[in-house]
Amino acid sequence: MPHENYLDKLFSLKNRIVWVTGATGQLGHEICAAFDKAGSVVFGTDNRLNEEKMVHSSRVAYYQGDITDRASVACTVNRIFSDRGRLDILVNNAGVSCFEPFEERPEESFDWVTDVNLKGTFFCTQAFAGKLKGNKQSGNIVNIGSVYGLVSPDYRIYTDCARRNSEVYGATKAGIIQMTRYFAVHLASCGIRVNCVSPGGIFNPESPQGKNFVDNYAYRCPMERMANAEEMIGAILYLSSSAATYTTGQNLVVDGGLSCW
Ligand SMILES: NC(=O)c1ccc[n+]([C@@H]2O[C@H](COP(=O)([O-])OP(=O)(O)OC[C@H]3O[C@@H](n4cnc5c(N)ncnc54)[C@H](O)[C@@H]3O)[C@@H](O)[C@H]2O)c1
Repeated sequence: MPHENYLDKLFSLKNRIVWVTGATGQLGHEICAAFDKAGSVVFGTDNRLNEEKMVHSSRVAYYQGDITDRASVACTVNRIFSDRGRLDILVNNAGVSCFEPFEERPEESFDWVTDVNLKGTFFCTQAFAGKLKGNKQSGNIVNIGSVYGLVSPDYRIYTDCARRNSEVYGATKAGIIQMTRYFAVHLASCGIRVNCVSPGGIFNPESPQGKNFVDNYAYRCPMERMANAEEMIGAILYLSSSAATYTTGQNLVVDGGLSCW
């Protein structure tokens, strides 16, 4: 007999305890808002907390936290546990990129991108998994990759956009997609699922990419437009929910078909 609330139960994220990194960035803000609307309890961390991008809700709390600093990561996990006694979901969303031409890239830029995107994701995963294993608790992780972890950017479209995708960004995002598989395998027996969502280019209304770039991107993309940040939410919530209990190690590409040709 069909239950009225079958879909509600399948996708329910009510009262789940969620940690979102990079929480006051463009996508982080949408992720925190979405989990809040789904009835979860959200802990958002960011090394540069932006008050304008905070969700004002009794279910959402923010901490300053740097994912490249192991002590800071441990402090976040301990605070969440002392506050709520458990943690269910980690969204490894914090990420950075550098934009100078690769011929001019200083070592510091390369190190910064690898430190945040790869080492930071690793530290958060290690802390989350360690604590859940210690508590014999199941949970899941959603990493945020990128379509540029799968394909290279088309440089011809960056006519009036200074935010050129870098080789180190793509390499770290490919690394995150692979770490997703690695940890899915290693944490499966502990009841921890690990998946990845790889967005295509997201339009930023507050700091718009060049008009010519946006038009060129639309021409390159089968769906003929850039993404909106909210369009990543369905994939993130799905992978976090009980609808995905047998899904682990996967990379869900949300790119309007960009990587299909
Ligand atoms: N915007 C896009 O087009 C796009 C496309 C594909 C993937 N992504 C990925 O989505 C994620 C979010 O990106 P966004 O577009 O919202 O960027 P964003 O710059 O708006 O947000 C990133 C957030 O991460 C935070 N952060 C940076 N270093 C940190 C650190 N060491 N510790 C903690 N927080 C740190 C920043 O302060 C910022 O708030 C990133 O992983 C990015 O690579 C974005």
